[in-house]
Amino acid sequence: MKSIFQEKAKVLNNTRIGLSYGRIALLCSRNYLAAKPGQFVMVHPDNGTDPLLRRPFSIHRLITLKHDAACIEILYKIVGKGTRQMVKLSPGDRIDILGPLGNGFAISDRLQRVYIAGGGIGAAPLLFLASALRSMKNGPVECTLFLGGRSKSDLLCMNEFVDTGIKLHVSTDDGTAGEKGFLTNPLEAAIQENCPDMIYACGPMGMLACVAGIAEKYETSCQVSIETVMACGMGACLGCAVKEKTSDAQYLHACLDGPVFDACCLSLQSGGREL
Ligand SMILES: Cc1cc2nc3c(=O)[nH]c(=O)nc-3n(C[C@H](O)[C@H](O)[C@H](O)COP(=O)(O)OP(=O)(O)OC[C@H]3O[C@@H](n4cnc5c(N)ncnc54)[C@H](O)[C@@H]3O)c2cc1C
Ligand code: FES
Repeated sequence: MKSIFQEKAKVLNNTRIGLSYGRIALLCSRNYLAAKPGQFVMVHPDNGTDPLLRRPFSIHRLITLKHDAACIEILYKIVGKGTRQMVKLSPGDRIDILGPLGNGFAISDRLQRVYIAGGGIGAAPLLFLASALRSMKNGPVECTLFLGGRSKSDLLCMNEFVDTGIKLHVSTDDGTAGEKGFLTNPLEAAIQENCPDMIYACGPMGMLACVAGIAEKYETSCQVSIETVMACGMGACLGCAVKEKTSDAQYLHACLDGPVFDACCLSLQSGGREL
């Protein structure tokens, strides 16, 4: 049984990234030092009044501070009420968080070559993952990130990814930065040249379905981090049910069984949500 903690985390800083994104750093209890890449937190941007329900966000980065204190960063896209409130938070404010939640990416020191695919805000959990892979003593010899976005302004955290030492391949749908087109094109080209032991992916459901299809075609392991509607984040509300690929009747909880799944387990074409 994993431990989950509810606390009022102190905002250390909150920076706007362009018009649509922000990054917030939260001082948390040392319990977060055990958090794994791919895990998430449920956040009450307004401490539970409006909106009423917490919102799920991946742990973007975990930083160990002095005296074993932990700081987690969240990278967020401003899409609605909760994230519009989040952008207004200032250093010193406190917000209610619950976590760390869910199952993260499975990482093993048997991996030699790893490809990571991140589309748009899907980059959020991948910086923590890239840092963890690069800091492993017997980590993969090659780690390449295929980072994509609709446009240049949707390419997130490029410098931070480069700082981890990962190889970076950039593409945009409109060609305003990097190669023009979907990131799945250079990803497939790279696989044809050198097949990885593992593909990790996070991004829009269409992208994940395409990455899963490529992994199946080249018989490579693939783990995807999915987004679903989540009300509780702890297995109590059934709001996050996703359909298992192999069974018509079997559903999984994205919050408990995921949000990271083996791509072959889920029916991703439909967003995993044939309810
Ligand atoms: C496990 C998990 C991890 C996540 N990690 C991140 C993250 O690191 N950074 C980040 O920016 N977002 C992340 N999300 C999505 C994030 O939870 C939503 O964007 C957020 O809840 C929106 O809250 P809001 O109040 O601003 O918008 P709302 O007012 O709730 O919604 C605004 C609009 O966004 C749509 N929307 C809301 N949630 C989602 C979703 N999950 N997927 C697609 N569309 C949605 C709604 O349908 C609506 O159209 C994650 C989701 C999950 C399940
Ligand atoms: S979010 Fe409530 S059961 Fe998963």
